[in-house]
Amino acid sequence: MCGIVGLIGAHEVAPMLVEALGRLEYRGYDSAGIATVNAGRLERRRAVGKLVNLSDRLVHAPLAGKIGIGHTRWATHGAPNETNAHPHRAGPVAVVHNGIIENFRDLRAELADDGADFATETDTETIAHLTARHIAQGLDPVAAADATLARLEGAFALLFLFEGEEDLMVAARRGSPLAIGWGEGEMFVGSDAIALAPLTDRLTYLEEGDRAVIRRAGAEIADAEGRRVTRPARTVRAEVARLDKAGHKHFMSKEIAEQPRAIAAVLDAYLGESGAALALPAALDVARAERVLLVACGTAYYACLTAKYWLEQIAGIPAEVDIASEFRYREPPVAPGTLAVFVSQSGETADTLAALRYVQGRAAQIVSVTNVEESSIAREADLDLQIHAGPEIGVASTKAFTAQLSVLLLMALRAAEARGALDAAALADRLSALRTLPALVTAALETDGPLKSAAAEVAEARDVLFLGRGVMFPLALEGALKLKEISYIHAEAYASGELKHGPIALVDNTVPVVVMAPRDALFDKTVSNMQEVMARGGEVLLITDAAGAEAAGETVWRRIVLPTADPMLTPILYAVPAQLLAYHTAVAKGTDVDQPRNLAKSVTVE
Ligand code: AGP
Repeated sequence: MCGIVGLIGAHEVAPMLVEALGRLEYRGYDSAGIATVNAGRLERRRAVGKLVNLSDRLVHAPLAGKIGIGHTRWATHGAPNETNAHPHRAGPVAVVHNGIIENFRDLRAELADDGADFATETDTETIAHLTARHIAQGLDPVAAADATLARLEGAFALLFLFEGEEDLMVAARRGSPLAIGWGEGEMFVGSDAIALAPLTDRLTYLEEGDRAVIRRAGAEIADAEGRRVTRPARTVRAEVARLDKAGHKHFMSKEIAEQPRAIAAVLDAYLGESGAALALPAALDVARAERVLLVACGTAYYACLTAKYWLEQIAGIPAEVDIASEFRYREPPVAPGTLAVFVSQSGETADTLAALRYVQGRAAQIVSVTNVEESSIAREADLDLQIHAGPEIGVASTKAFTAQLSVLLLMALRAAEARGALDAAALADRLSALRTLPALVTAALETDGPLKSAAAEVAEARDVLFLGRGVMFPLALEGALKLKEISYIHAEAYASGELKHGPIALVDNTVPVVVMAPRDALFDKTVSNMQEVMARGGEVLLITDAAGAEAAGETVWRRIVLPTADPMLTPILYAVPAQLLAYHTAVAKGTDVDQPRNLAKSVTVE
């Protein structure tokens, strides 16, 4: 949930630290801070709120030094304010931290009894005090950091900086990602490749339990048992241009508009040269799978719920879907023959990673569907399927969602092919329909105007309902999440048929009801549900196709008409108006579209 960075450079590091933190703000933006060592002195600058506030602070109170660490925060322990902003310091030690120290209260009590004076409510400050105490007891900085790490329980990525040490940083990883970047006479550390992209493309990802001693000349890595190890350095090309909004007002609108290209990238990656044959990795063992288990969080979870319909309806394979944060605590049996699929845009979601680790040794095969090749989830799966969506910066997931759906649909088609549920001709027809998806999504983007108009009124609502039937129900869930997470309007989604079993009590003329309903086999039932809503004054915004609009007539409050599409494609296509409605509603409300309050892009704590 936080972003950390460290630099040992040949140049003044403060501006480079701030630039790197700007690339990490998607991981949290409650506060930011840096610390440097210059002429032996360790100093900090911190500011609450967006990174621009830290930049302002540094204009008036610059920090010199060619070694430093930085942090952008999503608050876990302690309110988002300057006092609780990282780096945290105790005596000669400063530390930045991503994660949660689960035993910090016991450690804090022990240190306080020992005379430590705490300035903050954070778990991280405990790490600084513990390390300072070890130094006071005569340990050198590296030994002091090691002694501290041995006392910590929980998940962390840590960076230590020491007064008087201008060529030493200590980095440690347990549960939260951390990469070492290799320069020429310079060394870098960051939460991910994006942070370090302008500085280097030679990265080494620390493994679980690793601790690294980093100096200008290089890094020495020890594993969890303290053994000296060598981790591979890879060339990782994170797209440096990611900070460019390409003329859009927000990253989210840019990424909504990028969806035709993102989906085309999936088809290019997995339909082979001709575009007419499934070319998923041969290692994807769907033929022997007796069932599929899909696990994820948030939007990725809704992608999995959608995939369940495809896997069962197209491939005839049983599929179950679980919320990652619930899954492992239920201690579910994982039957032999289970293909376990973990979907995660960031590849670092702690709940999803923990769920993946639960099935290790239990599932027949573990497949990840991620957008970050070197991410923890991608590296710990047996097989990773990249969604090739390019960096997604807006906290609200858009192009990653439709790219995830595209990969999952291809997986369902592969399962159908392997199980004989689709013969070659039928598969060819499906793939032919799938290749029209980028153009259909481009056409769906044309509904921007009518949705912007509807959003002006939706922005006035206190509650909004989303309805969908069958494969459109998970999309209703996604539409509700999009709206609530960026506009802060309460929104709920129901399977259309469920409305009359209670939720319809919520309906009156102040509650917009968004109905996601192409003219498919379930449409007539959905029309009945819409009439139940309108009979009670509810205002229905119907998202449908031409045939659906005609069948619904003029009675609905508003109609958004999408291109007519193969029912297999509608869950992907109808995501676009749901995203646009949420986006324009948030803009109308003046909320922070790309960095909504209380959220972060990558939830790397449980
Ligand atoms: C989506 O708009 C949200 N930002 C959030 O639900 C997100 O999908 C969820 O945290 C999962 O993230 P992941 O795909 O990186 O694992």
